Amino acid sequence: MIVVYIARRSGLLRGGRHIIGFMPVSLKDQVILVVGASSGIGRATAMMMARDGAKVMASARRQDRLDDLQRAMAAEGIAMEVFAADATDVSEMNRLAETTRQKLGPVDIAVYVTGTNTPDRSMQRLRPEIWNDLITTNLNSAYYITQAVLPAMREARSGQLIYVSSISGHTPDASGAAYQASKRGLIALSHAIRGEEKQNGIRTTVICPGLVDTEILEKRPVKPTPEMLAQALLPEHVAEAILMCAKLPSRAVIPELTIIGSAL
Ligand SMILES: NC(=O)c1ccc[n+]([C@@H]2O[C@H](COP(=O)([O-])OP(=O)(O)OC[C@H]3O[C@@H](n4cnc5c(N)ncnc54)[C@H](OP(=O)(O)O)[C@@H]3O)[C@@H](O)[C@H]2O)c1
Repeated sequence: MIVVYIARRSGLLRGGRHIIGFMPVSLKDQVILVVGASSGIGRATAMMMARDGAKVMASARRQDRLDDLQRAMAAEGIAMEVFAADATDVSEMNRLAETTRQKLGPVDIAVYVTGTNTPDRSMQRLRPEIWNDLITTNLNSAYYITQAVLPAMREARSGQLIYVSSISGHTPDASGAAYQASKRGLIALSHAIRGEEKQNGIRTTVICPGLVDTEILEKRPVKPTPEMLAQALLPEHVAEAILMCAKLPSRAVIPELTIIGSAL
């Protein structure tokens, strides 16, 4: 009863056609590129999407970690392509998009998870080269891979771009000026691209996680306490949120999603 009421109120029940609720779209055979897939959130995302039947290309710099990911999936009987590339290099991002197209087909969904921080994050320790590295890795490179996959998405008149920013892109904290500026910039990039590209059937989502227990925390000047880590999200929690956004029907989009540990 309640479902029918909500459906009527929201216009989902029309002209005798019962369209109640949204069936998540299957990722089966969708071509998904995950940049920043060698550890943490990106690795968990690539694994979950591949288990869901997607054709996944996993990329990051560390070949040994990518090989390990590929072996872990093969042990489950799932094939996954890997490609070692530095996201800060425009030509490598173009090659990544082209190799993905050749091996798997045009990219349906690109997930940009790549990110870094520095122990030298305070203004007293930050130097121009560290600032440039963070802005390039966390923000410029998202633009590079976006430019590399957009033409094929426009041609297909569909596509999804999912960016992993951070709650630090919204809420001032101790993650440093360069990290916060880059993550706020990534939020803006995602919204700006959606505004321009929706006419081409392209959707964007930016995910803003709170504390997640991953390797990036090793770059903190002061490590989180075991008590904090016990309350942090796991990479799989963020990957689940990414999957949920990826599986929305093409008429729907989650422009921005914040996910935090429930006790933090
Ligand atoms: N953990 C948290 O508390 C937290 C909270 C909010 C947001 N985030 C964001 O979540 C994203 C994923 O981070 P994580 O927490 O999962 O940490 P992580 O395990 O350190 O993952 C970072 C990923 O980025 C890749 N990467 C870094 N620089 C790269 C480059 N130049 N080219 C290609 N790949 C590069 C790394 O691979 P290689 O080193 O092999 O290249 C790795 O796969 C980041 O954007 C981070 O800012 C994390």
